[in-house]
Amino acid sequence: MHKKLLLPGPTEVSQEILREQTHFLIGHRDRAFSELYGGITAKLRNFFELPEDCKPTVTTSSGTLWFDIVGRSIVKKKALVCINGAFSERLGKTIRACGKKADFIEVDWGKAVKPNMISEKLESGEYDTLAICHNESSTGVRNPIHEVGKKVRENYPDVILAIDSVSSMAGDKTLPAEIGCDIIFASTQKCFALPPGLAVGLVNDRALERAREVPNRGSYTDLVEIFEFEKKHQTPFTPNISLLYALNKRMDLLLEETYDHVYERHKTMADYTQQWAKKHFALFPEPGYESVTVTCIQNTSGKSVRKLNEKLAEKGFMISNGYGKLAEKTFRIGHMGEWKLAGIKEVLAAIEGIWRLET
Ligand SMILES: Cc1ncc(COP(=O)(O)O)c(C=O)c1O
Repeated sequence: MHKKLLLPGPTEVSQEILREQTHFLIGHRDRAFSELYGGITAKLRNFFELPEDCKPTVTTSSGTLWFDIVGRSIVKKKALVCINGAFSERLGKTIRACGKKADFIEVDWGKAVKPNMISEKLESGEYDTLAICHNESSTGVRNPIHEVGKKVRENYPDVILAIDSVSSMAGDKTLPAEIGCDIIFASTQKCFALPPGLAVGLVNDRALERAREVPNRGSYTDLVEIFEFEKKHQTPFTPNISLLYALNKRMDLLLEETYDHVYERHKTMADYTQQWAKKHFALFPEPGYESVTVTCIQNTSGKSVRKLNEKLAEKGFMISNGYGKLAEKTFRIGHMGEWKLAGIKEVLAAIEGIWRLET
């Protein structure tokens, strides 16, 4: 039986999108490819209202490639990395694994990183890069990246601001011009509601200038090379053409729905799920910093989340257990991508039935 995915990625993908992957293949140096790919980047530019100095690209990778891109192509001397969950921790470790120095601002899982914590550290002038995760999928915390961006742009013009928007882009508010970031990236198996295998990066000229100054950028992680090929509407290496067809269709659907409506739809689902969670359980994130795309709920019932998921499977749904050390202590409901409020209500009602919660 097909289980509809309410995970914080991969999320449910419609058959309409899945079918797009069955196009006959084209050569990635053929004009037909440049037309397809150039069309996608034009749509990304349009949807994310990119200013002239900010360019989109699509890599054949999951989102984590961009951790390495930041480590290899952006960090010159030293990075400051904000850590408040599993993915931001991996971001920090990856930058170090790329051979770069990195200091961490670490806050407890469930808490957000605040702009004043960052400016205290940036004040030292030691850092050329600030890396932060917008939406910590492991904890359901949404960091205040707009406030962070404002602080960085006003006070630290030489710092490159890199944002992991893996589970928020195309769901939450992530316009680079509004945030003031230099690099922001996402995987397509989250709010873009595609199969895994592609990542979207929005990169401005300041970041590219920085990349030109950084030696040993590697090959797949060389941002300069990636954007050299962008000029021809191509990618340096063979891309996943089938998935690009699917992304092309997704961009049409997103543009049709409009950026504002996409956000409103996600916010409506988040508000509803969070009200429901507060009625029956408690939210895990610090109040005021709840994600718009995934709700992380404290399992105050003491019942087994694993067994809940087994029962939900019989009804055709799958939610997510808590991440790592939060397994069974929390559970997560991903409301992203193609999901709408009616579907979320159905799932929450199913949980009420299985756990016999008061309605
Ligand atoms: C916030 C965040 N960052 C990074 C990643 C890693 O992305 P990927 O699995 O596409 O490499 C994830 C995956 O869940 C994520 O949620």
